[in-house]
Amino acid sequence: MSPKDPQGYSLTGASEKSAELYAQALSELQCYIDDPVATIDAALAESPKFVMGHCFRAFLHILATERAAMPEAEASFNAVTSLPATDRETGHIAAIQKFLAGDMHGGIEALESILLDYPRDVVALQTAHLFDFFVGDARSLRDRIARRLPQWSASIPNYHALLGMYAFGLEEMGDYRRAEDYGHQAIELNTRDAWAQHAVAHVYEMQGRQQQGIDWMESRQSHWATDNFMSVHNWWHLAMYYLDLGQIERVMDLYDNRIRNDRSEVALDMVDASSMLWRLHLRGIDVGERWSEIAGAWDPVASDAFYAFNDFHAMMAFVGSGNNEAARRVLASQEERIGQGGSNDAMTAQIGHPLCKALHAFNHGDYGRTIELIRSVRTIANRFGGSHAQRDVIDLTLIESAFRDGQLGLAQALSNERMALKPTSPLNAQFRRRLQEDKPLQAQANVA
Ligand SMILES: [Fe+2]
Repeated sequence: MSPKDPQGYSLTGASEKSAELYAQALSELQCYIDDPVATIDAALAESPKFVMGHCFRAFLHILATERAAMPEAEASFNAVTSLPATDRETGHIAAIQKFLAGDMHGGIEALESILLDYPRDVVALQTAHLFDFFVGDARSLRDRIARRLPQWSASIPNYHALLGMYAFGLEEMGDYRRAEDYGHQAIELNTRDAWAQHAVAHVYEMQGRQQQGIDWMESRQSHWATDNFMSVHNWWHLAMYYLDLGQIERVMDLYDNRIRNDRSEVALDMVDASSMLWRLHLRGIDVGERWSEIAGAWDPVASDAFYAFNDFHAMMAFVGSGNNEAARRVLASQEERIGQGGSNDAMTAQIGHPLCKALHAFNHGDYGRTIELIRSVRTIANRFGGSHAQRDVIDLTLIESAFRDGQLGLAQALSNERMALKPTSPLNAQFRRRLQEDKPLQAQANVA
């Protein structure tokens, strides 16, 4: 009889030892700690015909959202297709095939089909959750977890991960009070759950509770910042509070010593770095050589056009560093990519390409064109993935363009919108002051 995973499902081809390593790898991914690839490789060395071992390894690479990671995912897929497998495991193989073909939505649906029969399949659940994030499907971030919650309990291993994912889904759907509550519950069960830590960080970001966010991150730093491959993103969240408060020196310090200290070439890390520099750039702050460093890190993948959300952030770095050649390469590869099919095709055509063109226009001082392009996509930009907090950079670019182009009616409308959502934000207050200095629409308002 096959050994079982921590949630009680059979693991074809595993030994007791490789099943233990698999359980360890699952826990590592759920907390984003240590090295789940190394752990699953050790399991596969012990049991080369371990079906879920190969599947998990494939997902780990697919989740990188980088073209360069795909050959490893394909190798794992090829290793598993001829092995005997249960229905559940066959479902995973089918999902991997979809993702490898570039069909993110098809892959997610294949994982959902597994979950209908195996609601405690944590690999299906976490992979689908992360892809819900990559395709910007907030409702599914919340409800895919809700559909399974009654079939779980605190006595089942890894329950904290379920609560942490639910917390993030609730946060992306604007249910901040419950998001905070579930995030705290997850952390109580597992103090190292970096996803739950992050879900609560989002709540404080979205509600403009900057000091509480700073306290939340700094007081718990030993839990989320050490041996954690999500730490750059969580450092970015901490820097975001300081940025809102206008404590730019602290932002620069976090950027240099935490966000870019190891010059990571992981796309998810480069996204955070670019986005922070772009926010500083929009405020007219000179970030110096930091632009050329991050642009250099993006350069090898400038022509990949693999994931539109990454393209957008690479473009910030190319525009910010004045590397017009690389910026043109991004635009040209996107144009080539459009029409070739797959989930990223639509993301690029509808969102990523217009937004990259908007950044390019911004760089050339054509703020009117930037405004046109961003206005055409801003309310559907969730379709290329990321969180509300990350995509706020789109709105920030738009409002800055509105000021620079003298479109003060637009600047005022956007400022009103921002203030209604986050009245405690010093940055939003600054936009309002700037409007008063420019005296926009006051005359009309008084006449009316
Ligand atoms: Fe985040």
